[in-house]
Amino acid sequence: MDIKTNFTYIWIALGIITFFYLLKFKTAPYGRHTSKNWGPMIDNKLGWILMESPALILFLFFALQGFPAFSNPVIVFIALWCIHYFNRTFIFPFRTKTKGKKMPLIIALSAIGFNSINTWLIGTFINENALNYSNEWFTTPQFIIGLFVFLTGFFMNQSADNTLLNLRKPGETDYKIPQGKLFKYISSPNLIGEIIEWIGFFIMTWHLATFTFALWTIANLAPRIVSHHKWYLEKFENYPKERKAFCFF
Ligand SMILES: NC(=O)c1ccc[n+]([C@@H]2O[C@H](COP(=O)([O-])OP(=O)(O)OC[C@H]3O[C@@H](n4cnc5c(N)ncnc54)[C@H](OP(=O)(O)O)[C@@H]3O)[C@@H](O)[C@H]2O)c1
Repeated sequence: MDIKTNFTYIWIALGIITFFYLLKFKTAPYGRHTSKNWGPMIDNKLGWILMESPALILFLFFALQGFPAFSNPVIVFIALWCIHYFNRTFIFPFRTKTKGKKMPLIIALSAIGFNSINTWLIGTFINENALNYSNEWFTTPQFIIGLFVFLTGFFMNQSADNTLLNLRKPGETDYKIPQGKLFKYISSPNLIGEIIEWIGFFIMTWHLATFTFALWTIANLAPRIVSHHKWYLEKFENYPKERKAFCFF
């Protein structure tokens, strides 16, 4: 086994440990769970741009190493990744209504580290497999099902993020109970959508690197979904009782 594959297995193990740590011991302190007990703080919007930019910039750096030609399915993988991360890095932060809000610098730095490692895995996977997916891949069950799952997650994530970002009037920073669409059933359709998205990306690429990224997304976001749900129940007495953290329990 080569060094990169060995590293990937260690990284997977760390992802599983992170999942249990975030679920049982500590909610990541940003957004509604932010805390001043984690050292120096930075502006929330700036934090998001810093945290997410490696996923776009490093991706292009690693994927385009040596300027390989890409097969058509690989162009689709690159396009989906870049669309998601262009929005997350350069559009989403400017749409947030978080004036005056801060996040711990340590959170931004650890997210830069986590995003950089995952992006290195995905970017080098693209580079090393630039020509390994022929046009026949478009007709495989993996590609068709994976694309469907990815797009389902993408639209869930976008639609729910839109609802949340529109809850506040300009200048407001407090929280309201989101209503409508999937919020009727679950507290965080944006986060569940993001998980579904990267599971879809793994299915459509069928590779260890994208599996690892999907697993890390679950490790980060599944505990956050649980924390958000508990937080809503504690903050709002009139929070809809039928709404769940995950729709299946
Ligand atoms: N791939 C990954 O591992 C990963 C990790 C983290 C996040 N993400 C993605 O990044 C996006 C943001 O994540 P997040 O954890 O910050 O999501 P979030 O807690 O749902 O917040 C999203 C935005 O909506 C605002 N908001 C949320 N609930 C609100 C409410 N009830 N009333 C008013 N405003 C509300 C938040 O403001 P506040 O900031 O003031 O709370 C924030 O600006 C999501 O799409 C998520 O999927 C991905």
